[in-house]
Amino acid sequence: MVKKLISLIVNGETVERAVEDRTLLIHFLREDLALKGAHIGCETTHCGACTVDMNGRSVKSCTIFAVQAEGARIRTIEGMAEADGTLHPLQEGFRQEHGLQCGYCTPGMIMRAHRLLQENPNPSDDEIRMGIAGNLCRCTGYQNIVKAIRHAAGKLQVREAAE
Ligand code: FES
Ligand code: FES
Repeated sequence: MVKKLISLIVNGETVERAVEDRTLLIHFLREDLALKGAHIGCETTHCGACTVDMNGRSVKSCTIFAVQAEGARIRTIEGMAEADGTLHPLQEGFRQEHGLQCGYCTPGMIMRAHRLLQENPNPSDDEIRMGIAGNLCRCTGYQNIVKAIRHAAGKLQVREAAE
């Protein structure tokens, strides 16, 4: 099978790999780059478990071919904590507010929430619910996920005010 060389930036690092045209971005991230944080749930764009940030937008990486990410800037859950291991406020929020149970949806949920808070730093609960409408959770009932995102929004606003 013919492969094409692609170059992109993932979590701040430039990566170059040869990929087949048919390789999905989620498989590229998980298998070629060993970034297993983004999960595969449905592979049909429904569940959001595979959500990553690509060029400033949330994308479901099961819906994109790796070759379409040529030149892109991608952030995955592995790129959220600080280099010293300090959790991102969203990760901290999910932990403190019990925003997860099995955790399968969590990486995608956090990446989606990250983009939501970039676009709307102080969302109402309804706006949070609308913002994560493309990400499904089978366990939590969503209440604590909303609380976790609200927690992170508050923390990020405090951090921004201090800068
Ligand atoms: S695995 Fe991509 S949306 Fe479900
Ligand atoms: S915590 Fe289990 S699917 Fe969301």
